Amino acid sequence: MSNSKTIHIVLFGIGQVGSTLINQINEAKSRLLQAQNLKLRIPIIANSKLAFFDKDGISNGWETDFETFSVPYKIDEVIQFVKQHKFENLIAIDATASVVFTQNYIKLIENGFHIVSANKVANTLHYEFYENLRLTLKKHNKSFLYETNVGAGLPIIETIKNLHNSGEKIEKIRGVFSGSLSYIFNHFSESELSFSTVLNEASKLGLTEPDAREDLSGNDVARKLLILARELNIKTEFCDVSIESLVPKQLNGKTTLYQFKNRSKELDVPFQELKKQLNKNQVLRYVGELDVTNKTLEVKLVSEDKNSTLGQLKGADSIFEIFTESYGEKPLVIQGAGAGKQVTARGVLSDVIKLSNSLN
Ligand SMILES: NC(=O)c1ccc[n+]([C@@H]2O[C@H](COP(=O)([O-])OP(=O)(O)OC[C@H]3O[C@@H](n4cnc5c(N)ncnc54)[C@H](OP(=O)(O)O)[C@@H]3O)[C@@H](O)[C@H]2O)c1
Repeated sequence: MSNSKTIHIVLFGIGQVGSTLINQINEAKSRLLQAQNLKLRIPIIANSKLAFFDKDGISNGWETDFETFSVPYKIDEVIQFVKQHKFENLIAIDATASVVFTQNYIKLIENGFHIVSANKVANTLHYEFYENLRLTLKKHNKSFLYETNVGAGLPIIETIKNLHNSGEKIEKIRGVFSGSLSYIFNHFSESELSFSTVLNEASKLGLTEPDAREDLSGNDVARKLLILARELNIKTEFCDVSIESLVPKQLNGKTTLYQFKNRSKELDVPFQELKKQLNKNQVLRYVGELDVTNKTLEVKLVSEDKNSTLGQLKGADSIFEIFTESYGEKPLVIQGAGAGKQVTARGVLSDVIKLSNSLN
């Protein structure tokens, strides 16, 4: 097709999300070319140490190619390679969870890259970095899309941005932002199982981080809340979020993961006590709440009526209630799978396509 547009993607991170994304791109290729005149080419894929370079773009055998031909790399070599081949329409995808990698964003933008990220770090570092990143993007006329930072494939950030930009006054955002904590409290509240048993189930299903204390600490929910607040131009920092951690002091970071797993039954009594205090129509939910008017960000365990919007949640779904002036008492609600490699990779691909279509 003569007037097709070729997009050159450099993918950093080929773990769960990154590798699923490559497969989704390979599957979508012919449809994208036919329907949207887009050619998505991935000339470089990289993990934290190695990169595989192929000027024609990786093929279906990329895993073997990476194992056989990947080489240690530096970010400057990536930049040099795309310059040497005069690649246009450059998108760097951050599918890492790395703080170190986000330090490359500015350099990548200065060298012609747009950025699509599943990694929350760049949006949750100090506000100075957040602001400087946006100034650099503006200066170089580049885009940064990160829809999967909150709610994975669910359209949360775009919805909030659209409402905000159209002048709609968002008053509050409240919800269950974490798939693992959704599963844990949806099951614990309704079953007779102990808290540690439910936690163990969630871990076996691959819903929690390898160290479940990362979920239970509330930090991940706090990061998502911070990202939403900043979308609404609230200049706030991670340390401003009030977080009710669910990790008891005696099992905190000083305890090894092995010890935590062996002693997880110590969580059972306090959570059973909390459950006892509920009446029969109530359930426990771990929520994030952004009060826009008062500029407060809270992550906390609450009791909810079973029939309420948050109370009816099932499985490992996430849910976001967006209260605005026009929606009044009845918020706009977005609900669905808020984690998982398939939906997250799909969300990243959707950002890539949106960005690609905006390029001349
Ligand atoms: N999985 C989900 O459901 C989900 C949902 C929403 C958002 N996310 C976000 O998506 C991102 C990726 O998640 P994942 O589950 O795919 O993680 P993962 O399986 O742990 O994969 C991470 C990948 O990033 C690479 N990496 C780490 N540091 C790097 C660096 N400095 N430069 C280049 N590559 C680097 C790792 O390489 P090595 O193997 O060399 O370390 C690995 O290939 C995370 O930020 C996560 O929070 C995930």
